[in-house]
Amino acid sequence: MKYDLISLGLNAVDVLIRLPENIQHDGKQMVRDLIIQAGAPVGSGSAGVAMLGYKVAMVARLGKNSLSEISLEQFRRYGITTDLVIRDEESRPAIALVEIDPVTSARTVFIQMDDYGFIQPEDIPVDKIQSSRVLLVDSYDLDATEAALRAADGTPCRSVMDFESGDIDRLRQLISIGTDPILPLECARELTQMESPENVLLALASLCSGDTVITDGINGSWGFERQSGEILHQPVFPVESVDTTGCGDAYHAGSIVGILQGWSLRTRMEMGAFIASRVATRVGGRTALPIRSQVPSLLPVEISPDSYKLISEWSGTI
Ligand SMILES: Nc1ncnc2c1ncn2[C@@H]1O[C@H](COP(=O)(O)OP(=O)(O)OP(=O)(O)O)[C@@H](O)[C@H]1O
Ligand SMILES: [Mg+2]
Repeated sequence: MKYDLISLGLNAVDVLIRLPENIQHDGKQMVRDLIIQAGAPVGSGSAGVAMLGYKVAMVARLGKNSLSEISLEQFRRYGITTDLVIRDEESRPAIALVEIDPVTSARTVFIQMDDYGFIQPEDIPVDKIQSSRVLLVDSYDLDATEAALRAADGTPCRSVMDFESGDIDRLRQLISIGTDPILPLECARELTQMESPENVLLALASLCSGDTVITDGINGSWGFERQSGEILHQPVFPVESVDTTGCGDAYHAGSIVGILQGWSLRTRMEMGAFIASRVATRVGGRTALPIRSQVPSLLPVEISPDSYKLISEWSGTI
């Protein structure tokens, strides 16, 4: 089996609540937006790519318990194969409680990782990564990330890195093994010790071989296209934002589709920003992920004519 995308990173189940405007402390209260949904960067990034019609597998360790059952159900629901899920009795996913402020959309996240199923060295599917087209990794378990990046290194498999935090020297070393970092600005600033998006991008580009991209929430994203030497800025596509959980993950999903299709950096960034903007319209990082056939009717009017044409044509291909 040849996968379009193999992902490896934190596997979590989210309990999300959009808090009511008036909270009755020490009481009971009916609420509208309270959902349970799998989350975490590579998990939701993978779900976005799978929903858009690609063959996606995620490496995870799951056991015989309720949280693992939810996780498995969510893999299936979003079209991610469970071929690379390792079963053991005790392991379970992380659980995250996400409180969303109804006015500012700010998120407060509480994470619990008891009995978390950390990936073991023997779990890394080296040959499957080597025959896959893209690898997606995060910065939760750097040993597992490094092993996966080393498997992809020197093969045609592109490696997309979504790092949030961690030891700076180690993260820099990992970026030099991978190909395509797409990082939140805050982490990229720490990593490069640079301030302006332009300098951050160039410093990142000196570490790896691919194009470099940074995202900064409502301020949009910036990308450095190695071949042309150009720096691009992609504003957000305006939507009525309800919950920005998973916007970064969805941005990665759109960008990965662009890598799989061989699109230019400009179109990859527009596709990333488009999928991210959809996700902001509903509570949960996966609720509003589109399937491929829905894409044409959702494309923002602000998208460039070139990208509009490419993405519309692509959406008719399955
Ligand atoms: N309110 C919004 N409306 C539309 N698009 C948004 C909004 N917030 C973020 N985006 C899009 O999502 C992209 C990624 O967001 P951001 O930089 O916040 O990622 P992140 O920090 O990795 O977030 P997370 O991992 O928590 O989802 C932005 O570059 C932008 O294109
Ligand atoms: Mg992120």
